Amino acid sequence: MSRLDGKVALVSGGAAGLGAAYCRALAAEGARVVVTDVAAEAARAVAGDCGPHASSVALDVVDESAWAAATDHCRRRYGRLDVLVNNAGIVHRTALMETDAASFQRVLEVNAFGTFLGMKAVVPLMREGGGGSIVNVSSTAGVTGFPGIIGYTAGKWAVRGMTKAAAVELAPYGVRVNTIVPGLVETPMTAGFAGPGGSLRRKKGSVDEVAPLVVFLASDESAFCTGADFVADGGETAATPAVRSSHEVRQEGTLMSAYKIEVDLDQCQAHGMCVATAPGLFGMRPDDSKAMPLADVVSGPEAEEAGLAAEGCPELAITLRPLGD
Ligand SMILES: NC(=O)c1ccc[n+]([C@@H]2O[C@H](COP(=O)([O-])OP(=O)(O)OC[C@H]3O[C@@H](n4cnc5c(N)ncnc54)[C@H](O)[C@@H]3O)[C@@H](O)[C@H]2O)c1
Ligand code: SF4
Repeated sequence: MSRLDGKVALVSGGAAGLGAAYCRALAAEGARVVVTDVAAEAARAVAGDCGPHASSVALDVVDESAWAAATDHCRRRYGRLDVLVNNAGIVHRTALMETDAASFQRVLEVNAFGTFLGMKAVVPLMREGGGGSIVNVSSTAGVTGFPGIIGYTAGKWAVRGMTKAAAVELAPYGVRVNTIVPGLVETPMTAGFAGPGGSLRRKKGSVDEVAPLVVFLASDESAFCTGADFVADGGETAATPAVRSSHEVRQEGTLMSAYKIEVDLDQCQAHGMCVATAPGLFGMRPDDSKAMPLADVVSGPEAEEAGLAAEGCPELAITLRPLGD
């Protein structure tokens, strides 16, 4: 007897990255998995890995009629739906002042509105079966603030809020709703991202280190859990930003007292995230809009602030060079 025998699980954004790992992990525990994604071909391939009872459906999470078609598929093919993993998401990497309204709205549309549509679509079928489990995917960006992903941050905080509201509303029907909070994990979405400066493990996680949380929340083992956040982040959110940045500036195991800030202009993509993070320490050069340090040498709290900016620079363009003990 496997942990998810008899259950049917639908995963959005299941064609790649974390979503595909959730599909495989759910299937490995006996669930019949419906892999959905805008990338229909890739979704079909993942369903092929999930055994003879898996299937795939093309689903854009911002399209309400596509959600209706996906739940109809579950009703016709399996007669039930027990688990929804609201996983599909996108990221747009720009600082607040460089983010245009359309990009902000698009990220919220997929990450937050899509999550709302998914919950709304599956509840009737779950209620018919006596209940279910909805797993909404937030992020460490949904419990804290990172520079350069303003729309993503808004959407991932919204996911946690909606989870709590829905958990309260849906409890009478036996539908549990929880949030998972993954830290930085190696997937196509994060291919160009530097490792998590704040993670106590200091490297990206793997999809298989997050998937067990989804299996637990999909299973009856989590029957007492609803409206809650479940974190798998390698310790990324365990420490305060100040502690994390001083962790970061202990570059070679020694806490150095002074650092020279350098910006590699070939790597700098002029996002301005460093300026947003440490406005006293970074500015933009008027000639080519690339970043420049406003101070040559920093120490103490300034070094921590510069460490945060270096951590947040997606191009790894900022170096803090230790000057001595
Ligand atoms: N990778 C990380 O470090 C990380 C950390 C925390 C949270 N997350 C969240 O986990 C989820 C999956 O992330 P990932 O890293 O695997 O991303 P990914 O980009 O590797 O995969 C996302 C999948 O979602 C699909 N998708 C995109 N827009 C869609 C839409 N409108 N409708 C349906 N499918 C759509 C894509 O086709 C793709 O298959 C996202 O919600 C992301 O925000 C990721
Ligand atoms: S130094 Fe980094 S964060 Fe600052 S503008 Fe350049 S690439 Fe962006």
